Amino acid sequence: MAFSLNAMEISLLKDYMQLTVTLQNLMLLKIAVILNVMKRSLFFLSLIIITHHSFAQVVVDSSLLLPEKDMQWWKDSKFGLFIHFGLYSVLGEGEWAMFYKRMDTSEYGKLKDSFTVSKFSGKNWVNVAKQAGCKYMVVTSRHHDGFSLFNTSVGNYNSMNSPVKKDLIKEYVDAAHEAGMKAGIYYSPLDWRYPGFFFPDLYYSNALEMKKQTYTQVHELLSNYGKIDVLWYDGGEDNWLGFAGLMWDGGKGWYTRGFNKPYTGKFSWEPVKLNSMVRSLQPTIVINPRSGWMGDFNTQEVTLRGRESRPWELCTNLSQTAWGWTPQAADRMMSLDSCVRLLVSVVCQNGNLLLNVGPKPDGEIEPAQVQRLKEIGDFLSKNGESIYGTTGGVWDATWGGTTVTDKAIYVHILKVPADGKITLPAVSKKIASAKYVGTTIKVNFRQSDNEIVLNGIANKENKTDLIVKLTLK
Ligand code: GLC
Repeated sequence: MAFSLNAMEISLLKDYMQLTVTLQNLMLLKIAVILNVMKRSLFFLSLIIITHHSFAQVVVDSSLLLPEKDMQWWKDSKFGLFIHFGLYSVLGEGEWAMFYKRMDTSEYGKLKDSFTVSKFSGKNWVNVAKQAGCKYMVVTSRHHDGFSLFNTSVGNYNSMNSPVKKDLIKEYVDAAHEAGMKAGIYYSPLDWRYPGFFFPDLYYSNALEMKKQTYTQVHELLSNYGKIDVLWYDGGEDNWLGFAGLMWDGGKGWYTRGFNKPYTGKFSWEPVKLNSMVRSLQPTIVINPRSGWMGDFNTQEVTLRGRESRPWELCTNLSQTAWGWTPQAADRMMSLDSCVRLLVSVVCQNGNLLLNVGPKPDGEIEPAQVQRLKEIGDFLSKNGESIYGTTGGVWDATWGGTTVTDKAIYVHILKVPADGKITLPAVSKKIASAKYVGTTIKVNFRQSDNEIVLNGIANKENKTDLIVKLTLK
């Protein structure tokens, strides 16, 4: 994979990086805006702010989609734990450090020699997820820096060849299986070590090498560890995987393609071929949309855009810094209040929340973050019946929303209206009773053919999510 870039290529690459960094900065700006908004009122979280992931141009091929019955566990799960861990954790500057700092591959690669990960335990990670009330996990097996946390036949840039000498993914998946936790794997097809990623036409054979790596490693990940429940690709939708970078046009010369214009060069990841292989190895695996194929669900990232017509998941960070660990992570954690509001907002709109933590360089998830996750778990152990296995009902950013099952409607009140009154659409079943969840305290209600009206709502204990259960006959 040896290569060198000439002066023109380097300057073009810098342009590309500048663009990407600007977009990343934009994301950080958006995070800051969101935090501000959260501070004032989390209800505004449902505002639509466009992210740089446009969803156009992915290959729409429904023949690969999982049937409803195989998606059900995922839809019922509602809450998953995302873990970003890799060489970048050692640097503590986020998972984009290599790229941001323009680190030479071999210089960055030296981090491998200090990858001792003395406190890593797959069991602990799974335990943290369990205590948080998560029903599934997604762990980075290889991020854009190209360093694999598993035993792979492609090269020696992996955890087996670092001082830790372990297949971390195996340990994690084994622990998940043992604990009955659904095991998901994150995998980034793109790899910054390959110039073919940046210049797919100019370094076509190199790009093909990168593609081969993806096929081989995805094959390994889905063959060597038993059942894998989720495959979570990364690299944007068509945007980055189709190379956001530079295009050549005889007249115009080199130009930046822009994020909303699909790449039209000769390289293709052949996402349908890739995911057909995935399906043949793991027939019921749930696949996200970032391989260039539409996937079994849609992803929203950091910014909650709200309900979608397909199954969807919002991924975001518990700590509003980077996905990979930074020393500021514990100080910048979302409050419990924010976490609960976010989870409830997502679930009322029929989505899942995949909440990320970045373990420290030694592999341990910071105690402060573990504690916050436990607190979410406490909320879920008391109120889980109103979250898990439900379907999103109505959503009204001024007060909250509902989740429904065959037997009940749960009214999640995140802000009690000044008049203590909430009006809901009519349902055909009769309401047998209305009570605050976990209590015997009745709520005044009136049901007619046109509407349901709850009256006299009061949040005496000042709960983040005041839940009324309407039991259906
Ligand atoms: C973005 C980030 C990437 C992270 C991913 C998680 O794509 O750039 O680093 O892994 O989001 O969704």
